[in-house]
Amino acid sequence: TSNQMWGGRFSAGPDAIMEAINASIGFDRRMAAQDIAGSRAHAAMLAATGVITDSDAEAIGKGLLTVLSEIETGTFAFSTALEDIHMNVEARLKEIVGEPAGRLHTGRSRNDQVATDFKLWVRDQLDAAETGLIALIRALLGQAEAGAGWVMPGFTHLQTAQPVTWGHHMMAYVEMFGRDLSRVRDARVRMNESPLGAAALAGTSFPIDREMTATALGFDRPAANSLDAVSDRDFALEFLGVASICAIHLSRFAEELVIWSSAQFRFVTLSDRFSTGSSIMPQKKNPDAAELIRAKVGRIFGANTALMMVMKGLPLAYSKDMQEDKEQVFDAADNWMLALAAMEGMVRDMTANRDSLAAAAGSGFSTATDLADWLVRVLGLPFRDAHHVTGSLVAKAEARGCDLPDLTLADMQSVHPDITAGVFDVLGVENSVNSRMSYGGTAPARVREQIARWRQAL
Ligand code: ARG
Repeated sequence: TSNQMWGGRFSAGPDAIMEAINASIGFDRRMAAQDIAGSRAHAAMLAATGVITDSDAEAIGKGLLTVLSEIETGTFAFSTALEDIHMNVEARLKEIVGEPAGRLHTGRSRNDQVATDFKLWVRDQLDAAETGLIALIRALLGQAEAGAGWVMPGFTHLQTAQPVTWGHHMMAYVEMFGRDLSRVRDARVRMNESPLGAAALAGTSFPIDREMTATALGFDRPAANSLDAVSDRDFALEFLGVASICAIHLSRFAEELVIWSSAQFRFVTLSDRFSTGSSIMPQKKNPDAAELIRAKVGRIFGANTALMMVMKGLPLAYSKDMQEDKEQVFDAADNWMLALAAMEGMVRDMTANRDSLAAAAGSGFSTATDLADWLVRVLGLPFRDAHHVTGSLVAKAEARGCDLPDLTLADMQSVHPDITAGVFDVLGVENSVNSRMSYGGTAPARVREQIARWRQAL
């Protein structure tokens, strides 16, 4: 038996393999609510424009709500033979309301229908990402406030560079996630045009009102070109692109948390709620959530690459290749939201170990730059010469197995005779961070300004 939706010209039904490769119902059932919202908007518009009767539209609208509740309560019987969510919903509507169901698809195609459903789904995910990002930023602000002035080593090449403050490091991530937030909002604005009414590709001869369905579904306007409207998956690609950049930030922070929670660093203690143990080593407390965030990022990049490869080179308008868009986006969205929530939980719960941070901040000659700056400021040396003199002092301290503040004034003067005792004032880490008062710098006063700006902005 041929397909009841499009089988008019067919005398035989599809091979089982054809059905298996063709069906998307296994995954696109996740768009059921969006599909029904789109159909309800379409039916109401068809009645308002006189294309179908009010009583047909009413029967369709009511019937669709019944279908929705069947799907939500798990009593709906999905059929692979009916290929996708669109035809599953319509076939069931036919069983419930009879003849009017056949009028729903007037002036519409699955091509504009699927683009509409998928856009609505992605738009919901952008909203969820916005909520998740704001929660994560708030958690970071909490950490930054608690330790705005706590000193810790700042790194380049993962080698001790200069002392910074804990608050400054937290606020660096606030900036990154803040840009992600703005990218999420930008993407939402750009994608918010309705494909509904583009029909198969050319538009329709029925006197439809695309403004009306666009408004009903919360879109800003109808998409301007019907060919583009059914061919466009930019919104899904942009979603994955935004997710990928955010995932990079999540993975960098996750990596730092893995390092920082190790026994060798002890910069942070993760909460029991966001750690796991080992089945053999009783002492273990592992940062699994951070490791999984680091790993899930790979899946998000994979989805991004996969969909770009699916879309490249496709001629206009719809091709079935485009059915391969959804699983990638669904998987990336699920893992992005989970990663955001897990990161927020870890950050909210973790304890920064102030003493370990301070001890590490003072090691590794972290104030060597302060010493060189002092030679410039007080003795008037050119910076390059000051750099060289300081390097010699570092070598002296390293040979002796001590830090820069442990050298004597005589040691200092043996490298440069004009050095005075005043130099010792700049070798402390507290002094170092307090002096970094340039805009955006690590001085606690500057960090508190950054925090206040973000508190205001959220
Ligand atoms: N299941 C299809 C998809 O996800 C729906 C659109 C089908 N359109 C078509 N012309 N065959 O893309």
